Amino acid sequence: MRPLDCADLYSDGRHYDLQTKGFVEDIPFYLRQVQKYGQPVLELACGTGRITIPLAQKGIQITGLDVSESMLAQARRKASQKNVAVTWIRADCRDFQQNQKFRLIFIPANSITHLHDLESLETFFSCVRIHLADKGRFVIDVFNPRLDILMRDPTKRYPVAEYSDPDGQGMVTVTESNAYDAAQQINRIKWYYKTGEEERVVENNMRVFFPQELDGLLQYYGFVIEAKYGNYDETPFESGSPKQLVVCSLK
Ligand SMILES: C[S@@+](CC[C@H](N)C(=O)[O-])C[C@H]1O[C@@H](n2cnc3c(N)ncnc32)[C@H](O)[C@@H]1O
Repeated sequence: MRPLDCADLYSDGRHYDLQTKGFVEDIPFYLRQVQKYGQPVLELACGTGRITIPLAQKGIQITGLDVSESMLAQARRKASQKNVAVTWIRADCRDFQQNQKFRLIFIPANSITHLHDLESLETFFSCVRIHLADKGRFVIDVFNPRLDILMRDPTKRYPVAEYSDPDGQGMVTVTESNAYDAAQQINRIKWYYKTGEEERVVENNMRVFFPQELDGLLQYYGFVIEAKYGNYDETPFESGSPKQLVVCSLK
């Protein structure tokens, strides 16, 4: 199982929150899944609690699991400010053990793209299977690969975000470049954080899951695909869909 290579990317949860500020469109989708499939809920790769905390605020019994201490520290801070109860667990989603089964387990926001090799996926799916209640559901949210993005000129940069530095260093401008490694099926992205004259480069290597491959992996690892949506409004998945939102049960 390969070591994770995203520690730098998630080394400061405050920057993550500022960079993703305003992205809330997936939250109603997860609320609907809880209404349909029940609780308790387990969010894998929960990060700073961007989704976990709003769900807990609705009275949902939820556990958030993440490998990054900085992301979890930010999550704990926000949950305590808002006075909401969440069980936070620091663990690798490829190797965790809880004495509890969940009616809904989900891995949102392309987080599965951090699992690059087959062994990581195998141990990850095995952990999910063990923790899923008999009639429970497992939901994956990952982008539908766009060939035009994968084949971008690696020397070009594209805008990502702009926000005010949490330590008062001025505006941070984030741009990205990418080079697609077709053999490994990994999009090797570089994010450039520019503050004044200084620029910090962080790698974000995302495993690309083509639609038929993702469905095949899920079936091979013991899941039945019950629905596949193309976006958070639950429209059916099709060629031009931005997302692959797969709802699975146990075989
Ligand atoms: C894109 S962020 C998503 C955070 C949050 N779920 C959200 O929607 O804002 C990806 C998260 O995955 C976590 N992560 C990456 N690999 C992981 C692993 N093997 N086990 C647990 N968490 C992991 C990172 O620490 C990071 O917090």
